[in-house]
Amino acid sequence: MKTPIRVAVTGAAGQISYSLLPRIASGAMFGLDQPVILQLLEVPVEKAMTALEGVAMELDDCAFPLLSGIVLTDDARVAFRDANWCLLVGAKPRGPGMERADLLKENGKIFTTQGQIIDEVSAENACVAVVGNPANTNAMIAASKARRLTADRFSAMVRLDQNRAQTMLAKKAGVATTEVSEIFIFGNHSPTMFPAFGHAKIAGQPVETVITDRAWLEGEFCEKVGKRGAAIIAARGASSATSAANALVDHVRSLATPGAIHSIAVRSDGHYGFDENVWAGMPVKTISSGTYEVVTGIPLDDFAKGKIAATNKELLEERAMVADMLG
Ligand code: NAD
Ligand code: LMR
Repeated sequence: MKTPIRVAVTGAAGQISYSLLPRIASGAMFGLDQPVILQLLEVPVEKAMTALEGVAMELDDCAFPLLSGIVLTDDARVAFRDANWCLLVGAKPRGPGMERADLLKENGKIFTTQGQIIDEVSAENACVAVVGNPANTNAMIAASKARRLTADRFSAMVRLDQNRAQTMLAKKAGVATTEVSEIFIFGNHSPTMFPAFGHAKIAGQPVETVITDRAWLEGEFCEKVGKRGAAIIAARGASSATSAANALVDHVRSLATPGAIHSIAVRSDGHYGFDENVWAGMPVKTISSGTYEVVTGIPLDDFAKGKIAATNKELLEERAMVADMLG
């Protein structure tokens, strides 16, 4: 048996975590031979901590063979101590009529504190994946607090958008989702994101040779991927949870699998026209667990360049709004 890895999860009594934790404990995230210790963080409020105890009781009752231990805490130093992976889910979700940027000031504070503590107490080369919205800018805030961990250890999740785009293309073409490949997300996890259909393939063929309706690709497709989160909030009265948890499983598994090519939001060093030091979605190739290189050379036409300029502008605006939280 391998040595257990420590996985810290924040917001552990929330709705995403309720779907996420059993997937981690069952081996879906790190593999069927990798034991895990879950280090679960909630806010120091009786209701939240009692709910967290209930979550832990249910995990116990699953008798997962790979679950080597569960730590329940309201102390971030305990949750992140020696953690190999820090999954930052805990934050306020938006309600109907709100944009994710509306959460910026309120949720940003969480990531200043947690970024600093993770840097102080987590394992060497810990990986941090941010889900709490606005995820890109929260990852930037957390990374800005780090003195030991390098900025490339901090990523934000755009995999849900990639998965959404994959299914929408499959449905439009009338094929299985497995037939859709190389659909990557550029930019912010917000309606400005760009699902780069020009590069994607269906059954190995360029998307546009199968879906010849360019107006649909530029219009309805991009808009529906960007606004899918709002559509779910409108339908469910709560933001996506199972699909968000599933996307985080995919995000981490791909980031831990050498050779995997997938979309994550990482610190930009200028690729694809993004400003340096914004956290922008782009395709990366995993080199070794937690390390990656940006996939370069994806051709962008004028439409794609315009979409990337718009999402980059929004990322810059978000960065300006939290300038006092950085560094
Ligand atoms: P939720 O309200 O059900 O759960 C959030 C939990 O976080 C709560 O239990 C709360 O007590 C806890 N929490 C708040 N502050 C905390 C802190 N400082 N430390 C530890 N725990 C804390 O919300 P949810 O539906 O699970 O969503 C969580 C976040 O994920 C939201 O910001 C939501 O917008 C975001 N989200 C992101 C994506 C994405 O694709 N990036 C997808 C879905 C949801
Ligand atoms: C999503 O995309 O479903 C989440 O980011 C939740 C939201 O606020 O849209």
